[in-house]
Amino acid sequence: MTRLSAPDRVLSASDFKLESIDLYITSRCNRRCTYCFLPDAYFDRTRHMPPSTVAAIVAWASGSATEITVLGGEPALHPQFTAIVRDTAAAPVRVRTVTNGSRHFRAALPAVHEALSRVAVSLDAPSAAVVDRLRGRGAFTDAVATVDELRAAGVPFDLNCTVLADTVGLVPEMLAYAEASGAGRLNMHWFSPVGRGAEHAADQSVPAGAWRRQVLDVVAAYRPVRQSFTVDCQVAFDFPVPGADRGVCAVRDRTNLQFLPGGAVFSCGMLLEDEALAAYQWHDGRLIRRGGDTELARTATACTGCPLRPSDGGHQPICIYNRLAV
Ligand SMILES: C[S@@+](CC[C@H](N)C(=O)[O-])C[C@H]1O[C@@H](n2cnc3c(N)ncnc32)[C@H](O)[C@@H]1O
Ligand code: SF4
Ligand code: SF4
Repeated sequence: MTRLSAPDRVLSASDFKLESIDLYITSRCNRRCTYCFLPDAYFDRTRHMPPSTVAAIVAWASGSATEITVLGGEPALHPQFTAIVRDTAAAPVRVRTVTNGSRHFRAALPAVHEALSRVAVSLDAPSAAVVDRLRGRGAFTDAVATVDELRAAGVPFDLNCTVLADTVGLVPEMLAYAEASGAGRLNMHWFSPVGRGAEHAADQSVPAGAWRRQVLDVVAAYRPVRQSFTVDCQVAFDFPVPGADRGVCAVRDRTNLQFLPGGAVFSCGMLLEDEALAAYQWHDGRLIRRGGDTELARTATACTGCPLRPSDGGHQPICIYNRLAV
């Protein structure tokens, strides 16, 4: 039971510097990707965020955050996905969703496409064999079919690409593929080895040196032909590139909030695997700061670089929210 004794434990959105918040509306997913940062325990128990909770969080964040990102699990597997997207779009915020491209998302698309400001489709490589090995049979076909339908419906879309040891050699092809697909942006993530990723893909982390040579240098040299296409790539380590800032930590800086279906609220995506580490709790329509050994305690020390990730070959890891934009 959450104790609410100290008044400073109840926080308003103005206590944070939020551009966007993430709502994990469901734990249900049609896939079990080998590298997912969510743990098996997240998927083992089906939890859906009630639409009334979504509305209360959106009301809490409106006026601070200008964008709500709806994800999961696979967001379209929430039984009220359509109503959640449409009702949220009636608030003064943009609504974005992140999907693996499931057929459930395609089935919902005609009812939600006017309410969505953008959609991010997760696609890690321009190869059916590679994607299906990472995400399960049919994952590539699903993602491509969804991209085709988004393009036909005129919905702005991006591609999310998690770069792993098995896909890092395909980065040049992925850049060209994303641009040719009509995507507005290619978001490239360093694989965080947490959750299912720690259990099922521990050998898939791209080492710092390879990240520099095979990802950052390739992205920095990429010159899009289409003006409306950009690349947004995680910097990951303290390389001297634009976007790298050793001092950034989303937990300490209060720049990020991720609301899970059961009420846990995190600032750092690296820790979602253990809900006991959440800095905050959504409870009875209020955001409560939790005490004890949470992500707040673990990141409290002023330090340069991410306090949670080990250094690699002399390279200091930096916050996962540092981005190189091209
Ligand atoms: C957790 S998923 C939820 C939305 C939806 N199920 C999907 O896969 O697009 C959100 C994003 O996180 C990315 N992701 C998953 N595991 C990751 C990891 N270990 N490191 C970095 N990104 C990861 C996914 O590829 C996806 O783009
Ligand atoms: S990455 Fe997305 S699709 Fe894959 S298991 Fe995680 S939540 Fe499901
Ligand atoms: S990735 Fe590291 S630096 Fe960034 S919010 Fe998490 S703990 Fe802080």
